[in-house]
Amino acid sequence: MQKIQNTALPADQTQNGFFGQDILSVDQFDRQGLAYIFHVAEEMRSMVERFGSADLLQGKILANLFYEPSTRTSSSFIAAMERLGGKVIPIHGVQYSSVSKGESLPDTVRTLETYADVIVLRHPDVGSAALAAHYAKKPVINAGDGIGEHPTQALLDLFTIKEELGTIDGLRVAMVGDLKYGRTVHSLTKLLKLYNVTLEFVSPPMLRIPNNICLELKHVGIPYRELENIHDVIKDVDILYVTRVQKERFSDLVAYEKVKNYYIVDPALMSQAKGKMAIMHPLPRVGEISYAVDEDPRAAYFRQMKNGMYIRMALLAAVLGKA
Ligand code: CP
Repeated sequence: MQKIQNTALPADQTQNGFFGQDILSVDQFDRQGLAYIFHVAEEMRSMVERFGSADLLQGKILANLFYEPSTRTSSSFIAAMERLGGKVIPIHGVQYSSVSKGESLPDTVRTLETYADVIVLRHPDVGSAALAAHYAKKPVINAGDGIGEHPTQALLDLFTIKEELGTIDGLRVAMVGDLKYGRTVHSLTKLLKLYNVTLEFVSPPMLRIPNNICLELKHVGIPYRELENIHDVIKDVDILYVTRVQKERFSDLVAYEKVKNYYIVDPALMSQAKGKMAIMHPLPRVGEISYAVDEDPRAAYFRQMKNGMYIRMALLAAVLGKA
């Protein structure tokens, strides 16, 4: 659907390529677009560190619509909007909204956009954000659609890789854990194929990376391997991207029990890793990285989580024509 655009804004605020756009998939980003968002995120971090907040989005309202649980994505979008001077309609726990009475997703977003300027949506169904965007005239940002994509997470993940190691090109990145259902892995892999990287997919056999993603990597000539043993990669990787085995995605809980503790990153494992590398995790974790690793300077997952707010500030400013 054609989105409403406020053409009264100065041209330099609306020609960033994201003004008035939905953010549904990482496929929308090229290296130039990523560099732009990362630059704005750096500016946002600098602003927050110096002043705490700004009035860039004063008068703007975000509808934060979460049909699935969230701590980081939900609260960082709220913090992002409020630090930029905007306001938020929070709908967390759809049992408290008219969704519990059977209201459809299209009607819900058409309702919210009458009050808000931008909608952030997390939903358990693949394609739900695209469906919402089809009906909404205001920008929709995908905050995770089932096992599909989590584009804002992938942006903050890639930003963190660049911040931690100073580059993305030339790195060897291992993805570990639930690569089948892990939407953060799917989205980050799609972004990494824009760079000169080598990928190692480490998973139990039942949680291998989907074939369509391997085909995309082959198509662009990105080297990758699929492995089961984390010890086969730990010495060589620059990024160890660990994921949770997601109980909520399993219909067979016996199968979940078999793989839930398949990999545990602990100090003994990390003693084999490079001195300069980063351990990342989209969080929440449920045991796959031991607490003893948290003090390791290579443990980047809390810095990664913090970066989420700066990336989401950049995205909100960009789609609302204020970046
Ligand atoms: N990483 C992430 O999406 O975390 P939440 O589920 O807490 O939002």
